[in-house]
Amino acid sequence: MHYYILCIITSCIITSCTVYHSSLDEVLLFDTPAFQDPDNTSNSLVSLQAFVYLKQLDLTTLTSTLTTWTSGKIGNSIETALERLKLFAAVGVPGMLLSVGVAECSKQATLSATSGLPDLSLSVMNASLGHCDGGNTFTGTLLNADDVVTTTIFPSGTNGFGVISDINDTVKVSHILNTIQFIKTTLFNNPEPVPGMPDLYASLTQTLNDPPFIYITGSPYQLFPFLRNFLKASFPKSHSPIFSQNMTLADVSQVIDVLSNPNDLLDYKLSQVDCVHGIYPNKSFVTVGDLTQSDPEVYAEVLTSDHIADGAHNSNERFTAAFNGVPQTKYRIYTDDEVPGLALIDVAGGSC
Ligand SMILES: *[C@@H]1O[C@H](CO)[C@@H](O)[C@H](O)[C@H]1NC(C)=O
Ligand SMILES: *[C@@H]1O[C@H](CO)[C@@H](O)[C@H](O)[C@H]1NC(C)=O
Ligand SMILES: *[C@@H]1O[C@H](CO)[C@@H](O)[C@H](O)[C@H]1NC(C)=O
Ligand SMILES: *[C@@H]1O[C@H](CO)[C@@H](O)[C@H](O)[C@H]1NC(C)=O
Ligand SMILES: *[C@@H]1O[C@H](CO)[C@@H](O)[C@H](O)[C@H]1NC(C)=O
Repeated sequence: MHYYILCIITSCIITSCTVYHSSLDEVLLFDTPAFQDPDNTSNSLVSLQAFVYLKQLDLTTLTSTLTTWTSGKIGNSIETALERLKLFAAVGVPGMLLSVGVAECSKQATLSATSGLPDLSLSVMNASLGHCDGGNTFTGTLLNADDVVTTTIFPSGTNGFGVISDINDTVKVSHILNTIQFIKTTLFNNPEPVPGMPDLYASLTQTLNDPPFIYITGSPYQLFPFLRNFLKASFPKSHSPIFSQNMTLADVSQVIDVLSNPNDLLDYKLSQVDCVHGIYPNKSFVTVGDLTQSDPEVYAEVLTSDHIADGAHNSNERFTAAFNGVPQTKYRIYTDDEVPGLALIDVAGGSC
């Protein structure tokens, strides 16, 4: 079976992408960066991630897990949590192909949407869109289609600045150090931005001349729809692709434990930062993270090249150790109440 993506240019910066698929399956297509093909500089690549799953979800285990958890600890109704977590119950469908085309680009590409058995999880590939250029009208082919999903492509040039940002407790209030609070903010409450950060990121889009933002998070990809909606609503100027963790739960009843006890993220985040580097080898990156996860170590390691790092909440020895050897002018540790002032720093001019 083939699926087709139809993509419509909405502006020169942001392209939206639409997938048509059959009524039995659902497609999760991630927002993606677009970049110059290193092997042919007149072509564009997109880093596509997709997951196709059976639309019919069996939520029995998830429901009883959440019911048990809430009755023990908090009084919330489980509806919101069920909606946010439902993809953990999703069953991947093998052998699905998405045909991808973008308005104003010369080529279509085919993505195998779900990685193979036995995992049936997230699939990723670089797809060549050929030569992309303004003014062409895109025509897409539509087969076996009765449902539509949309996503967004964020192209950026080869030079200038980019911004890599963490999500938990950097842009989204997550209370990562307090399990009950963390589960409440993740599963039940309306997500809230860290005060001052939307303004800071909006100002970076100006001072850094429209840098691509990339959010790197330890959150599993099943939370992508929730996180995307949050960023779209709270960070409209820096709404961007999210690189999330590829994680399949063998036992859905473990979901709360897995979410609240994340594994060591150092290697994962380093590999994601490397990936962003591969995509934009000639850009300089401003990196923003917090201290509760591996961010200082990750960003410090990345600073072996000429990058600028922003810092984290609550400094401690670990932070100092991580940044040992990194010039003081290349990073900054900030506290919540300093966030508004960060917009005044001339990052593009080399200050941090
Ligand atoms: C996700 O993990 C599965 C195996 O666990 C692998 O087959 C697949 O390629 C991975 N996808 C990504 C995007 O890394
Ligand atoms: C590079 O891509 C362009 C446009 O897609 C194509 O016309 C050209 O033949 C390619 N060059 C090489 C060396 O493959
Ligand atoms: C960040 O929050 C997500 C929930 O949005 C959670 O799944 C993930 O484990 C958290 N990461 C860390 C390192 O705490
Ligand atoms: C996609 O392309 C970038 C840049 O060439 C490269 O660094 C990255 O490894 C590629 N990813 C995949 C999955 O092939
Ligand atoms: C990056 O810069 C180097 C040196 O200036 C240049 O040779 C290379 O083509 C550039 N790569 C890209 C993708 O622009």
